[in-house]
Amino acid sequence: MSVESAVMERIKPTEAETASIAQVAEEVMSMVRERLEMYDLDLEVRPVGSFAKGTHLSDPDLDIFILFPEGTPRNTLESIGLSIGEDVLGGRRMYSEHPYIRGVHKGIDVDLVPGVRISTAARMQTSVDRTPLHTEYVLANMDDGQKDQTRLLKAFMKGIETYGAEPNTRGFSGYLCELLILRYGDFRKVLEATKDWKEGTAITLGKRGPPMIGPLTVYDPVDERRNVASAVHIDTMSHFIVAARAYLDRPSERFFFPAEREPLSREQLRAKAVEHESRLITVIFDRPDVIEDNLYSQLWKTQRALAKKLNDFDYNVLRVIHEMDEEHLVIVFELERDFLSKTHKHVGPPVYVRAASSFLSKWQDNPYGRPFIDDGCWNVITERLYFTAREMIIDEAAIAGIGREIDPGTMEVRDHESTLGLTAPALLTELLDPLPSWEF
Ligand code: CTP
Ligand code: MG
Repeated sequence: MSVESAVMERIKPTEAETASIAQVAEEVMSMVRERLEMYDLDLEVRPVGSFAKGTHLSDPDLDIFILFPEGTPRNTLESIGLSIGEDVLGGRRMYSEHPYIRGVHKGIDVDLVPGVRISTAARMQTSVDRTPLHTEYVLANMDDGQKDQTRLLKAFMKGIETYGAEPNTRGFSGYLCELLILRYGDFRKVLEATKDWKEGTAITLGKRGPPMIGPLTVYDPVDERRNVASAVHIDTMSHFIVAARAYLDRPSERFFFPAEREPLSREQLRAKAVEHESRLITVIFDRPDVIEDNLYSQLWKTQRALAKKLNDFDYNVLRVIHEMDEEHLVIVFELERDFLSKTHKHVGPPVYVRAASSFLSKWQDNPYGRPFIDDGCWNVITERLYFTAREMIIDEAAIAGIGREIDPGTMEVRDHESTLGLTAPALLTELLDPLPSWEF
């Protein structure tokens, strides 16, 4: 049996499973329908998303839309749509660009989303209004075989951690997987197509829209002004390309179902750090009560901001990774060094400019020696603001441009030794010994 058919047997939901989810969907929709009748408006409830399209994996969420007539003002949409949702699901209000209700019915996660019914994307009021058009497009263009091929592609993407357009994954959404299958034909052909992908590749299934900035562009066939792959980061795209090649060379179920990696022991990690002659630093913040997706964007931002500071102050980042758990946000850096000389060279103005004289008088009595000329400029040896990376981070984090809701007041910074002693071995293993998930 080929790897793909073995995987398909493991991932394809059974008919019984699908029937029981369909039953739950029907229950939710009929509860919504009952309530819609109380309003003198032309309202409709419609299943969308992967379950409606038949491209879902096991344990899917249900995406259900409450469709209002075109032109319905947003506040009507919200007041009616959200209160029906709360009534039916008792769930909680979520805000993407557009508010919706997220809840659970009979153990299944359900999103109830108010939107307007439109015939073409040109008339949409918010971006969620495209979703029913996506569902119609896939249902009209995809055969059953391709639905299964989509499942394979999604499972592959999940296994190699490139699935999902959320801020932490920065990867391929379910709809994007569907479009890739439609564009190239099947799972294998999508993987083969990546041989020609490079930064800036643009793919179309119909009309090509305006040029877009980004590593990968896939024009939405229901709205050519939108790039369905806009969330895909260059690193995620690269990861997918590399995994696709590796899989075509040597297919294995490992790509779909990676093993759990055994972390290195603290002794082994210490030995790695000695081999690298590098230095480690861990920065930890309390986790604020913010919607997870927003928090992940802020965590990425914080990581970038602190890495920039470390580079600006010459500690030079080799590699950085992060992790979020229930209580904390953790960022671990591997640095070229975490300790610098007490003094450094401070570059002043060219000798021939007017400001040169004030520079000279300011540094006249410098304890580390008088100003000297280098490259046509006055220079002086002066004491550094911070000798260690830890001190620097402690002082500079608050002004580094970290995530808005991440509180620098809760920050704890572990130096090299306490990182080796206290930071989770799994995280340090990933940092010091990167390995693709299919090779675990
Ligand atoms: N959607 C989108 N772009 C995104 C996320 C969602 O266009 N970044 C739309 C798509 O039309 C998608 C629908 O919202 O089909 C539901 O989103 P989601 O549940 O995230 O994706 P599914 O396609 O249902 O895939 P999955 O199997 O992962 O649930
Ligand atoms: Mg879904």
